[in-house]
Amino acid sequence: MSVDPAKDAAGRAAAALVEDGMRLGLGTGSTVDRFLVALAERGLDVAGVPTSRATEQRCAELGVRLLHPAEVAQLDLVVDGADELTSDLVLTKGGGGALLREKVVAAMGARFVVIATVDKLVPRLGDTFAVPVEVVPFALAPVRRELEQEGLEVRERTHADGASYRTDNGNAILDVRLDGGLEDPEQADVWLTMLPGVVTSGIFTDLATDALLGAADGRVETLSRPVR
Ligand code: 5RP
Repeated sequence: MSVDPAKDAAGRAAAALVEDGMRLGLGTGSTVDRFLVALAERGLDVAGVPTSRATEQRCAELGVRLLHPAEVAQLDLVVDGADELTSDLVLTKGGGGALLREKVVAAMGARFVVIATVDKLVPRLGDTFAVPVEVVPFALAPVRRELEQEGLEVRERTHADGASYRTDNGNAILDVRLDGGLEDPEQADVWLTMLPGVVTSGIFTDLATDALLGAADGRVETLSRPVR
């Protein structure tokens, strides 16, 4: 499999932040995969909470020790990807369907470092990427109606063969497109998650502390905000 140099640069920069003994949050996606490979190469004594079955499996292949959220009160460092981010470190996530566990793990982190390619930095969230919303299957139709009544374009996520997509938690995903993007991401997240049957949205506000943005030439741009 060919390695994307921009993802590799971001993943390696994040792996360089890891110290012996750290308890980690392990995100999901192709950029996180580069982080996991670089982390395994360092041979440190670390363990991490995975945010998906896919990450769990990849860690088993690479020999990265796993933890359950019940085993640790706070994580020293969470590393995860994003689908879009703004310069104030507000993100949309869930392209890989792992948004719920990703949000749980992000909230456990003393530090949450986002790794992405520079092209994911956008002036406004929702510009290029629909917002994923995780919904319990029983509530799919009412939630969908509610969103459509607000004039939003809603698509239920499916597999390539048209079969219903289900998350690792057994839920469905509605990808919601907001015309012109998200004016107020925090308000949109609160509104979405208040709808009965919605488990979480892919809008991550007030969670990320830093972002490492990789470019094709191997350079990495860092964005930071004060630690919570
Ligand atoms: C999965 C995610 C991923 O972090 C996001 O989709 C980015 O993935 P990639 O690094 O493959 O572009 O939110 O739910």
